[in-house]
Amino acid sequence: MEKVQVAEGVYWVGVVDWDRRTFHGAHHQTPVGTTYNAYLVVDEKIALIDTVYRPFADELIERISQIVDPSDIDYLVANHGEPDHSSSIPLVMDLAKDATLVCTEKGEASITTQYHSTWRTQTVSSGDQISLGKKTLAFLEAPMLHWPDSMFTYIPELELLLPNDAFGQHIASNGRFDDQVDECKLMEEARGYYANILTPFSGLVLKKLEEVQKAGLKIKVVAPSHGIIWRKDPGKIISAYARWASGEAADNNVIIAYETMWGGTEAMARMILEGMTSSGIKARMMKLSATPRSEVISELLEARGILIGSPTLNNGVSPQVAELLSELRGLRFKGRIGAAFGCYGWGGGGTKVITQALEKAGIKVALPSLDVNWHPDDRALGDCLEFGAKMADALLTPE
Ligand code: FEO
Repeated sequence: MEKVQVAEGVYWVGVVDWDRRTFHGAHHQTPVGTTYNAYLVVDEKIALIDTVYRPFADELIERISQIVDPSDIDYLVANHGEPDHSSSIPLVMDLAKDATLVCTEKGEASITTQYHSTWRTQTVSSGDQISLGKKTLAFLEAPMLHWPDSMFTYIPELELLLPNDAFGQHIASNGRFDDQVDECKLMEEARGYYANILTPFSGLVLKKLEEVQKAGLKIKVVAPSHGIIWRKDPGKIISAYARWASGEAADNNVIIAYETMWGGTEAMARMILEGMTSSGIKARMMKLSATPRSEVISELLEARGILIGSPTLNNGVSPQVAELLSELRGLRFKGRIGAAFGCYGWGGGGTKVITQALEKAGIKVALPSLDVNWHPDDRALGDCLEFGAKMADALLTPE
């Protein structure tokens, strides 16, 4: 294995999970795999920053062993207790008998409870530092980015930020750095990662960025715990986070997310798209049974409107639509507008479920729903065209 040096005396000792296709219990699709990044800091004292998902622990130990004897590790810094980063802690602590586990107070509670163990632990808060000799580990708590225990580690002498999940992306690659991978793909995966994981915490993201700026932290390299390390242009991902968190990235685009049973709701979606196209609005059709849900969420990060269509099924909506609505409620996108449409045979009720769910998700309902009985005829298709045009007006009319 080739040693991967991130900065002087700092090595990537993580693993690539080429086959991972879902994350967080399938809530987040990861079509191009992921990595679990861990970093070894070698100085008079030796620190390991985070570990990897347990099935890959042997590779972590092998990579560490190429550089130092794992039993010589003095500090194991756990920036976050989620198992993709913490589940190899027991193995490392078994090998490094004299090591101290370093984490936040909340990290200690979560890690020791998950692994039913008590190790020598040093809890740290923002502003605390540990000297390794020539290098210093400085800590910055980052609660709810994205767990209560999350923290960033910073090495001032190298201007190296190790922010764990923040600024990550789910990409499996043999390139470790931003100058070794396709930039568009990198930003697309970083956007999907932000949209699906960090959207509910956007207010805290903005505050943390402000705090980092006020503290005057110089950042030459950002080395997250998933995916690619930002060394060519760390400012690119930092400013993208500022745009995503502020909502400024949401342009007057619309997503038409829908499911169809016998083609009626899909015919409506196509005509609604026409209505928006004629009004000069960019819109994208996303059939939910053919599109990973996390891709819809990723698109919504840069779109201000969402139209959701479903045929009525058992007085409700199709399962794919129900899943999206549940996701939107949890993610709490700000400043979005939306509306519902769909076909029904008898009774109806699908669009009512969507409208109520949009309200609960904090998405402003811009139009009354559009309901079509059975399959749309020419008149109903004309209504769809008008519905699209009205949505375009709603987007273009200042609040
Ligand atoms: Fe929150 Fe990558 O774990």
